[in-house]
Amino acid sequence: MKKIIVTGGAGYIGSHTAVELMNAGYDVAIIDNLSNSDASVLGGIEEITGKQPVFYNIDLCNKEDLNYCLEKEKDADAIIHFAAFKAVGESQQFPMKYYNNNVVGMVNLLDCIIKNKLNNFVFSSSCTVYGEADELPVTENSPEKKAESAYGFTKQIGERMLADVSQADSLRVISLRYFNPIGAHDTAIIGELPLGVPNNLVPFITQTAIGIREQLTVFGNDYDTPDGTNIRDYIHVVDLAKAHVKAVERLMEKKSSDNLEIFNLGTGVGNSVLEVVQTFEKVTGVKLNYKIGSRRAGDVVSIYADTNKAGDVLGWKTERDLANALSTAWKWELALKEKRDKNQ
Ligand code: UD1
Repeated sequence: MKKIIVTGGAGYIGSHTAVELMNAGYDVAIIDNLSNSDASVLGGIEEITGKQPVFYNIDLCNKEDLNYCLEKEKDADAIIHFAAFKAVGESQQFPMKYYNNNVVGMVNLLDCIIKNKLNNFVFSSSCTVYGEADELPVTENSPEKKAESAYGFTKQIGERMLADVSQADSLRVISLRYFNPIGAHDTAIIGELPLGVPNNLVPFITQTAIGIREQLTVFGNDYDTPDGTNIRDYIHVVDLAKAHVKAVERLMEKKSSDNLEIFNLGTGVGNSVLEVVQTFEKVTGVKLNYKIGSRRAGDVVSIYADTNKAGDVLGWKTERDLANALSTAWKWELALKEKRDKNQ
């Protein structure tokens, strides 16, 4: 049985990926410090797949523990690296938190990987590396812009480290640039678990609809877009997770055409904030309380992916649309409420 190490496997995208890997027949070993996730997610993964992932409660900043773990798992066939902080605004307020966790943690991980001769690496990157793109949709060859946030810069640094390491060592890398992941598993057993007030649009919408938040603020309607609100490429987290299975398979089968390959993971469709709100109301039948507010610092006007490379080279395509993603996000929010009500 082939084994994949998943750092950040208790997190939002990591947990959905662990499920898809296990459903595809892989053993999974999760490394996570549960700093932005909950141990109950591990039980959720087991409930969905019928199998228990191996779990290490380890912080990537603790190099000694990390090396001990990778020594034990050195027979793994690939590693997928999700463990990182991802809140854009917070990264501006506490940049060192981001440089320590996302950069120092990754330096430690790469050191231990090289030491233990693990050769196949998938990196969790982001469309944030493109900044405000000159042309849409963005392809993998679109130029990178100066990062708007410390978070964005940590993703650019990550890709740069991987470019250097993969040309000097035997490490083969696929970097996946996510657009906007949303939605939850169909079973509503796992989903996004934001701690505190959500930064991202869809958890804010579902929490407003369920009554945890009073009102959604749409950040600006005076942008140069058809309805004046920002355009993003919202991709179902399960579609995204499945791309990781394709990526590890490509690495294991030694099909890569370069030491470091980069793929956009989006739907290729751009939707405005108001379109997301309207689609949510349509698929759930719930009226959303929202108002138009001022622009949020650091938001790009519009971005969506050219997905041809992921389709042609990785052999992956999305199977779900915005409506489906939003209905699973809502089902997940309802499941969380049921759990809260039961515990009261
Ligand atoms: C950002 C990052 C992305 C990162 C993601 C993870 C950039 C350009 N993008 O995505 O790389 O992976 O966070 O957290 O750095 N909105 C509202 N009201 C809200 C919340 C959001 O109107 O309460 C709007 C935003 O202005 C934006 C859209 O919804 O237009 C999506 O926002 P969000 O979900 O936060 O994602 P991004 O900022 O696109």
